[in-house]
Amino acid sequence: MIAETARAKLNLALHVRARRADGYHDLETLFAFVDHGDTVNVAISETPEFSVSGPFAGALADEGDNLVTRAERAFCETFGISAGHRLHLEKHLPVASGIGGGSADAAATLRALARLHEFDLKDPRLFAIADSLGADVPACLFSVTAIGKGRGERLQPIAGAPGTPVLLVNPGVAVSTAAIFARWSGDDGGALPSGPLLDVAATSRNDLYPPARDIAPEIGGVIDWLESQPGAGLVRMSGSGATCFALFESAAACAAACKAAPPHWWGVATALV
Ligand code: C5P
Repeated sequence: MIAETARAKLNLALHVRARRADGYHDLETLFAFVDHGDTVNVAISETPEFSVSGPFAGALADEGDNLVTRAERAFCETFGISAGHRLHLEKHLPVASGIGGGSADAAATLRALARLHEFDLKDPRLFAIADSLGADVPACLFSVTAIGKGRGERLQPIAGAPGTPVLLVNPGVAVSTAAIFARWSGDDGGALPSGPLLDVAATSRNDLYPPARDIAPEIGGVIDWLESQPGAGLVRMSGSGATCFALFESAAACAAACKAAPPHWWGVATALV
């Protein structure tokens, strides 16, 4: 059996540049990953099956199709694999929450299958499958700090800030990414500034925050609360929300804020990788 971690993705910055004819938007975004996520287990099996466990399993249990099984089907078709697989997902990340849970699961499935069948992770066919599964899946395939352009698939890795304490908080509202993008103002957010990761993050925005806050006002409450926490630095919403994050000057301050979060919010004190 092969196990792969599906790390949560953060958009430290997200500038929306333009609407495209294919229904997507051109972006400039700063992808980073944290030391917390789902786990995908894959094994060859004569009786193919998909199962899910963990705190957010319920959100997926009723879906006949999901990004893990879709990734497995695309992998087998592309690489001509006739063996069946047993797939198990441990779901620790809230779904539809702006931290790429489904995208990371799809990417982890592709990495696990590539290891199992001994294909190179840099095989361009793997990237092509990732690209076909969703805008964030290519970034999640490598799970390294990177600038993403196009719809997020044109990736330029940049030096990260590993170990930086980060608190993730979600107020428990699921938001539709398509609905948030549809409410974007249409004003070109401009290019991301250049420079070291944390400088770029500090001098940029998430252009999806205003439309997300319109649709789910709870998100504004989360941002205000994070900004009031001792030791919090950069505070921002990730992706199309509703998960927001704060970078902290110390792991102790991050853990203290996590403990102080309202009990009906989902919160995790972790760190950038
Ligand atoms: O690719 P994915 O399925 O994750 O995207 C979900 C939806 O988010 C798309 O159907 C699209 O409406 C929106 N989206 C977008 N521009 C992007 C990424 C996502 O408009 N760059």
